[in-house]
Amino acid sequence: MSGTFPAVREQWRLRPRQGAKRDLLSLHDLTVEEMEHLLRLAAEVKANPGAFRHALQGRSLALVFEKPSLRTRVTFEVGMAQLGGHAVYLAPADVGLGRRESVRDVARNLGRWVQGIVVRTFGQKILEEMAAAAPVPVINALTDLLHPCQALADLLTLQQHRGRLQGLRLAYVGDGNNVAHSLLHAAARAGMHLTVASPSGYEPDAAILAQALEVAPTTGAILRVIHDPTEAVRDADAVYTDVWTSMGQESESEQRRRVFASYQVNADLMKRAKPDALFLHCLPAHRGEEVTDEVLDGPHSVVLDQAENRLYVAKAVLLALLDEVTA
Ligand code: CP
Ligand code: NVA
Repeated sequence: MSGTFPAVREQWRLRPRQGAKRDLLSLHDLTVEEMEHLLRLAAEVKANPGAFRHALQGRSLALVFEKPSLRTRVTFEVGMAQLGGHAVYLAPADVGLGRRESVRDVARNLGRWVQGIVVRTFGQKILEEMAAAAPVPVINALTDLLHPCQALADLLTLQQHRGRLQGLRLAYVGDGNNVAHSLLHAAARAGMHLTVASPSGYEPDAAILAQALEVAPTTGAILRVIHDPTEAVRDADAVYTDVWTSMGQESESEQRRRVFASYQVNADLMKRAKPDALFLHCLPAHRGEEVTDEVLDGPHSVVLDQAENRLYVAKAVLLALLDEVTA
């Protein structure tokens, strides 16, 4: 069967490690060069979509989503179609990961039909279990811990608007969540200066910060976690925020609104950054909470470019990971 379809060009693919398939569970699994490669490939896909039109012809992709999604679902489905392949979306009620059927059994079944699995779930452990059991690449479409595809799109957006990443000063204001964690991994690899300002008790996970700090000296990245949002945005080239209550934390939303009240990104806070500082948000936004309309819809907001760039990143990740048809 593998002879029927065009080969995925070797130069696009991430090299297997010790002969094993590659997954994308965390940006921490990528070398500095591999992350650069994905960003270059995403930029190439954006500039020249026609060149990749048949690249994944005959391949199928499963999307196993245990949480809602707009951007991630649409960009992987549309991205796969634009590469000549086909995607099957499985909604939270369809699969019942670990309830209707064990994670391992779901992974092994899917591996008989599709060439890649995109998973949005709760625990990072569930994703790791899926990847260990699946004979095909598994891609993290968001867990409670990480959101690697988002951080790649964020870097692509910063590169597009500022022409470089090295030495760029990014302030992340708010919850030390999945988005903040993947940004730490990404900034470390890109040589950026990232300051995260979170309330006490809501800082990024210490183990994730330690992973990012391990890589930072090799690129000149400077990573800091502080509590003061004003200090974080001082002289920043870009300011990033995300929701105070992530998917799955809805029962804490009242308390979080109180804790995060002084972490809102509004016009006053943006004034403390560089005058032309960009505003980023992974979306969806809770308008009037972590960000005001004025900033989200303002002239420095690049949130829709981020959303658009999710498509090029999804395509680059698929090109880099999906192998020959094996089933
Ligand atoms: N930014 C992001 O991942 O959006 P969705 O939750 O809509 O996929
Ligand atoms: N931190 C958010 C990101 C959504 C894309 C969440 O997990 O809900």
